Amino acid sequence: MLLPWITLILIFSHCCFASERSYNEIDIEPCDINRCRLPYCYCSSQKIPGGLTVRDTPQFIALTITGPLNEKAYDLLEDLFLSKKYSNPDGCPISSTVFLKNHAETNYCLLKRVLHYENIELSITSNSSECPTVDCRVKEKDDKSPYVTWRSYRFYNETIDYRRTVSKLLDRRPSSIVGYRSPNYEVNNNQLHWHILREHQFLYDSTLITREWDTPYYKQQQPTPLTWPHTMDFKANYDCSQGCYTQSFPGLWTIPIHMYQDLDGRNCTTIGSDHCRVPRVADKFFKYLKYNLNRHLYSNHAPFVMAFDSYWLNEPYTAWRIEGLKLFLEHVLRHHSNDVYFVRMIDIINWVKQPVGLKQMKEGYLDNIALRSKCHKQIDIDEDFDQQCIDGKIMKNSKLNATANARSLLLLFDVAAEPLFRSNIVFYSSISFGIFLIVTFIYDRISVS
Ligand SMILES: *[C@@H]1O[C@H](CO)[C@@H](O)[C@H](O)[C@H]1NC(C)=O
Ligand SMILES: *[C@@H]1O[C@H](CO)[C@@H](O)[C@H](O)[C@H]1NC(C)=O
Ligand SMILES: *[C@@H]1O[C@H](CO)[C@@H](O)[C@H](O)[C@H]1NC(C)=O
Ligand SMILES: *[C@@H]1O[C@H](CO)[C@@H](O)[C@H](O)[C@H]1NC(C)=O
Repeated sequence: MLLPWITLILIFSHCCFASERSYNEIDIEPCDINRCRLPYCYCSSQKIPGGLTVRDTPQFIALTITGPLNEKAYDLLEDLFLSKKYSNPDGCPISSTVFLKNHAETNYCLLKRVLHYENIELSITSNSSECPTVDCRVKEKDDKSPYVTWRSYRFYNETIDYRRTVSKLLDRRPSSIVGYRSPNYEVNNNQLHWHILREHQFLYDSTLITREWDTPYYKQQQPTPLTWPHTMDFKANYDCSQGCYTQSFPGLWTIPIHMYQDLDGRNCTTIGSDHCRVPRVADKFFKYLKYNLNRHLYSNHAPFVMAFDSYWLNEPYTAWRIEGLKLFLEHVLRHHSNDVYFVRMIDIINWVKQPVGLKQMKEGYLDNIALRSKCHKQIDIDEDFDQQCIDGKIMKNSKLNATANARSLLLLFDVAAEPLFRSNIVFYSSISFGIFLIVTFIYDRISVS
């Protein structure tokens, strides 16, 4: 009984007291509404912004994907967001935020193509695939290179330099990328990444995981209200799971990720975390997602963050994940054709600054606040809009098809051969053919002699 507590205490003392601080810690105060006013400051709160009623408040879903923009990620984004298969209640295609990671694996030509549609927001995670505080590298067996936790120069390199590189390759200004998520949701001891984000005028961070789950919502009279996005000027009024901020970062927004729970009541930090056990079936995965959304729907409609990792979604033999996700999309958009909106993270912040009810949402509010062209505008992808990445894709596709064709041909042989073997036709023909050979051979010998 004692052991878990001791471990917990050890973990906490490790996380929060042992540190080399390079920034002076400023004591953080509880939020003071008189000193914290929109549009620059917003207290952490479980109250709906603008005093709206729950029934009139849109339920935002931020379906975010962290990872490199490679062919697999492109195919997924195309399927879910670019193909216009799925639409929000306002008739516009559903939107999303991509947290770009891993420079070496990103196809910038495809990325440009994705951004052309304007319903995908680009934010960043890190240039490499490494993590700031723990060794999360995928290593070869004989790779003994030591892991070093990130210090400030490494953070700058992985965030600010990376943002510069990415925006240069996309012909954009670095300031057009305003969102960040730390690799693996890690917060280092001196909260470096928040200092850096603030210094470089990022608008928001989506790293914090809040621990607000208690009993399953269906066992509660009144589901616990959940935290809305807020700025980090003042102290948070909730318990964060993976290291909270203990210093003030004025003006920097945080969009908290609410802890997930599986259908048996186990807590897990994010959708794909091993702590939640979800049966490997599309339908069960869909139910798990729906269950977690319901808690938001039944409490105060705080934005529901779905933080997917693109590697995790595309792992081999896990087609049930994407299938389950699609079941979720279809279900939600069909049954909540008035109040649920799949949006970009930046849309959520803009809405919190200027909250409106469902009627105005339906009248194109998102288009108006989004600083983007109207969603109904025809999007022309220029024919030679970087033909190269399209060519590369087509080539790859036909290669895949060739392999698939060869494979299906082989399968056809197998299918045809099996009953033949099972009936004794093959057996008898082989024996007949053998006898025929022997007879011919003997006859040949005799006729020669
Ligand atoms: C920082 O980024 C530059 C490229 O801009 C790279 O050449 C260098 O190796 C990086 N340094 C570290 C410590 O990662
Ligand atoms: C990002 O990583 C690549 C290697 O994957 C490296 O060549 C490049 O210099 C890095 N860029 C920055 C800005 O660190
Ligand atoms: C999940 O987390 C909540 C809030 O911290 C806690 O009350 C609850 O006991 C946890 N559930 C399990 C099964 O650990
Ligand atoms: C490859 O197969 C897919 C469907 O299986 C088809 O849509 C696509 O056109 C094919 N591509 C080529 C180049 O044949």
